[in-house]
Amino acid sequence: MTTYRLDGSTTTLLLLQRDNGLPEIVHWGARLGGRTPAGAVGALRDRANRRNGLDEDHVEAALMPTLGTGSLRTAALVASRSGTDWTAEFTDVAIVAAPGALEVTARDPVARLTLEIFLTLAADGDVLGMRSVLRNDGDTPLQVERLAAGVFLLPADAEELLVFDGRWGHEFTERRISLTSGLWASENRRGRSHDRFPGIIAGHRGFDEDRGLVHGVHLGWSGNHRTSAERLEDGRVLVVTGEWLHPGEVELAPGGTLETPLAYASVSANGLSGLSRRFHDMVRREVLSWPGGAMRPRPVTLNTWEGNYFTHRHDRLVAQAAAAKQLGIERFVLDDGWMAGRDHERAGLGDWWPDARKYPDGLGPLVQAVTGLGLEFGLWVEPEMVNPDSDLYRAHPDAVLKVAGRALRTSRHQLILDLTRPEIAEGIFGQLDTLLRAHPISYLKWDMNRDFVAAGDAEGRPAYRQHLLANYALLTRLRAAHPALEIETCSSGGGRPDFGILRHTNRVWTSDCTDALERLAIQRGFSRFLPPELMGAHVAASPNHQTGRRHTLGFRAAVAAFGHMGVELDPTGLDEQERVELAGWIALHKRLRPLLHGGGHAALRMQAGRSVRGVISRDRRQAAFLVAQERSEAHRAPPLVFPGLDPALDYRLLAAPPQHLDTRLSASQRILFEEGLVVSGALLGTAGMALPEMQPETALVLELAAHV
Ligand code: GLA
Repeated sequence: MTTYRLDGSTTTLLLLQRDNGLPEIVHWGARLGGRTPAGAVGALRDRANRRNGLDEDHVEAALMPTLGTGSLRTAALVASRSGTDWTAEFTDVAIVAAPGALEVTARDPVARLTLEIFLTLAADGDVLGMRSVLRNDGDTPLQVERLAAGVFLLPADAEELLVFDGRWGHEFTERRISLTSGLWASENRRGRSHDRFPGIIAGHRGFDEDRGLVHGVHLGWSGNHRTSAERLEDGRVLVVTGEWLHPGEVELAPGGTLETPLAYASVSANGLSGLSRRFHDMVRREVLSWPGGAMRPRPVTLNTWEGNYFTHRHDRLVAQAAAAKQLGIERFVLDDGWMAGRDHERAGLGDWWPDARKYPDGLGPLVQAVTGLGLEFGLWVEPEMVNPDSDLYRAHPDAVLKVAGRALRTSRHQLILDLTRPEIAEGIFGQLDTLLRAHPISYLKWDMNRDFVAAGDAEGRPAYRQHLLANYALLTRLRAAHPALEIETCSSGGGRPDFGILRHTNRVWTSDCTDALERLAIQRGFSRFLPPELMGAHVAASPNHQTGRRHTLGFRAAVAAFGHMGVELDPTGLDEQERVELAGWIALHKRLRPLLHGGGHAALRMQAGRSVRGVISRDRRQAAFLVAQERSEAHRAPPLVFPGLDPALDYRLLAAPPQHLDTRLSASQRILFEEGLVVSGALLGTAGMALPEMQPETALVLELAAHV
């Protein structure tokens, strides 16, 4: 018997290997002190004398549960050779330990399989990474239905799941689900995940922002996926996450391998805020890569979509860019509508050159005008797609994902190109590369606006995962050819917001819903796993284009200011007062940007109809809080007790910006808003502060800085 362990800064994964089989997960949680000999760990896990069970005990929480081993819960590996070799039992297992990593190589001589499992846990982090590779050692093909990327064990009191569903425009909708017995599973089959974000959080009943042992699991994959949480016979919970495969999607020829994406898991003893911080830090450290090696201040963006839609007029766009510059905006993104024939959704995708009527001299004059103003130029593309009404489709009608004999189902009047075919990927790369070489375009907004349905390759086999891998490869190639390029992942808003796509991209368009009230909930769910500097958040017009709601500029701007801020309206249509006000919010965002995007501690409070989101710098000398009144409540909100401040410090507390408040203030509150007050961190962290009564759908920002 042997134990293996991985230690993070405050967490431990402990595995036990008996005989020569796959290891059992003994513990994934708080860091273990002391040393328990393997024999004793084995004795602690033994369940002798079970009545009416198998005569020989079996392992339920194996690192990769399979069929036929005695465990009757979710199998993490399901494969067969046309109905034979459908059980799997690994009996020849070698484990190699290196600092922060375990490598398991396991063989099943009966089903003729080799399985490799890779586990990593950085000593200074607390996010466990797991992935696996399966090889067919037989001489006949192996059909794989499931190969989990990650298998994680939760304690028996994990009875509540926080899951994310919703739909287009309502992404990251948080729901609490009770898991007292049985199985919960989420399966995504549409190739993108507005309604099935690939992450879950679990804890004991009533865990909240700051309290409770909570576990989080995420799959770094932008395609179909399945995550399940199932109670084992002894009450503990096993979470299994990986790709969801269509029938026949993966068949391994003799010697062939299947490699999973990376799954991630983390644990925090300090509730949701602590868990989010771990994921955010890990994403910054291990997932993202930036041109030049480091993130630079996130440029405030003007995105042209809601201000123009498909109507592109050079003079108007230049005037908008100039107005944006005046507001303090730093990047101009030309959204959909610029390509040949793209006057509506029904044409143009696939023909990635400028429309000759809208851009008679190409994109050059607009790019020059915009960059001449000192703004960066970004461009919207949707490279995986084609409209039937396009030159590309007319020339190559067979270039799309389809199943022969079945209806070609369009969505938003578009079809999906078969990127698994090298000549098609090459053609798309060539078109994008030509644009990027011709102009100083430093940013692409990479859209993907439809579900996959009956997505077969040239032979009619399901091509979901292969298409996604080809898309990742295309992004990799494009970034290698244009190292200064940043890319935004946008799939009708939040359809592709996972750690997999973020290896290739630098921002997420969080949702197509730009209503600030809706955004508060969407951004809350987003922030559980993803850091604020990646969260595209735009100030849009009022009334809002999606919901028709009217909001003050202050509310819209304050909500956007806590993400990667942008503006999505025609800035030439603002009156003088609005211009001054919006410029003030943009200046505030820029001033706070190093704090908001600087990897500080993010805190959240929900109280009586209001949400309070804070970022506290790592040294706790600076903090900013967004207080948003989401609705009116019968009871007054309790004082705001500021989380995360240093009780030994005094802070200058200032409400900002004072000139555009939507609230009535007392004389002393007025001092707070206009001059600021010095208050001890101890008092703010205990008695807290009575906030002014705020009307629904208004917000204010509080800033704190250590006072010396
Ligand atoms: C998607 C995006 C929007 C916009 C439109 C353009 O819906 O999410 O931001 O780019 O496409 O067609």
